[in-house]
Amino acid sequence: MARRLVVIGQGYVGLPLAIRALDVGFHVVGLDTDEWRVKQLGVGESYVDDISSERLVAALGTGRYLPTCDYADAAGFDVCVITVPTPMRDGVPDLSHVEDASRSVARYVRPGCVVILESTTYPGTTEEVVLPLLEEGSGLHVPGDFHLGYSPERIDPGNPRWHLENTPKIVSGLGDASLAVVRDFYAQIVDRPVPVSSVKLAEITKLIENTFRHVNIALINELAVFAEQLDIDIWEAVDVAATKPFGYLPFYPGPGVGGHCLPVDPSYLSWKVKRALGHNFRFVELANDINDHMPDYVVRRVTAGLNERCKPVNGSRVLLLGLSYKKNIGDPRESPALAVAEGLRNLGADLRAVDPHVEPLRLPPGIGLVHLEEDELRAADAVVVLTDHDAFDFQLVQRVSSYIFDTRNRCSGPAVERL
Ligand SMILES: NC(=O)c1ccc[n+]([C@@H]2O[C@H](COP(=O)([O-])OP(=O)(O)OC[C@H]3O[C@@H](n4cnc5c(N)ncnc54)[C@H](O)[C@@H]3O)[C@@H](O)[C@H]2O)c1
Repeated sequence: MARRLVVIGQGYVGLPLAIRALDVGFHVVGLDTDEWRVKQLGVGESYVDDISSERLVAALGTGRYLPTCDYADAAGFDVCVITVPTPMRDGVPDLSHVEDASRSVARYVRPGCVVILESTTYPGTTEEVVLPLLEEGSGLHVPGDFHLGYSPERIDPGNPRWHLENTPKIVSGLGDASLAVVRDFYAQIVDRPVPVSSVKLAEITKLIENTFRHVNIALINELAVFAEQLDIDIWEAVDVAATKPFGYLPFYPGPGVGGHCLPVDPSYLSWKVKRALGHNFRFVELANDINDHMPDYVVRRVTAGLNERCKPVNGSRVLLLGLSYKKNIGDPRESPALAVAEGLRNLGADLRAVDPHVEPLRLPPGIGLVHLEEDELRAADAVVVLTDHDAFDFQLVQRVSSYIFDTRNRCSGPAVERL
């Protein structure tokens, strides 16, 4: 008989996992407290970039996928994976979603089953937060009755090369028996599970990966600001440095960092370091500071560019290209483009934006979406490239725009100023 999997949270992480598990034969319950999302899933309308609506319709067609808001549908599960959000609230990790999910599923925990946390979080969460809630709610224990583990998701939305199946996946368990069960589950889902010695190690590894990216982007962002003043092309410098085949990885400047990972995960790590050891994690604080100021820097550069053309920002027509936090996806969460938009609007800019990927409903009020058309480009006093979606016709942009501020190094020509 096919095994029963419950995936709690049907978002960017949970939905691809649910669909992949169907492909390898599981019966899958996709649990989500967001009624709108569950309704969309039920009618085969995907809201996650990496899963097309066609794929979702096919998943529903198997008769083995049940999107639901009702935790009672979790009854009888063999494997439960928790993929709910882990935001920061007022500078403190907000584990309320993880706690709610653990509490709600605890009553369906039964002997022999396994629960796996995938949400990104600080080291200690699985053992100190999830375990007690599951044990209390079920009356069962690890080890002995059921299994518990942690496996961080490494999904990179929109990445055409690396996806859930071919990205090695760290797996961990509370004790040898749990580790074996967690590893066996992921061996069916991904090409290469990577078992590690403890749950805490798996938890911190994810934070190291994201902090590494966050810090390196901050390094190059700060350099970009200085390079401009020194009249050095930072983009060329990064590419030239990347000709060194060892000891260097290229990171590029941009208008700031966004999404669920970079603005949040390093702060989980610094919060834990502060709470457990009383120390400030200075690298993370500095990187936060630099990356958080990039949208302001972009606003200042656009202001200066307009000024050179004898135009105040106030009343100038500004066309923003791209609002999502990275190219070719529609996720506007924590996007620095939104901070740039707010900064320019506060200065009185007459703002329009183009983004073929972002659902208008997901944008804050006051951002009017238009199509990328010649008239819009000609009418703009400034065109600001914030997210370099491949769908944009950059030839057209650089041919007809009078002034382009490009934060992604996609345009060239006399009208272009780069970050
Ligand atoms: N998006 C990414 O690229 C990415 C990559 C790696 C790791 N992660 C981590 O994975 C976790 C999930 O991220 P995401 O991007 O999929 O988030 P998301 O917001 O897209 O999806 C999470 C879903 O969980 C649902 N939810 C919240 N509380 C719930 C509850 N108690 N019961 C059932 N459903 C509940 C929400 O309604 C939402 O649909 C986070 O910890 C994130 O840091 C995300």
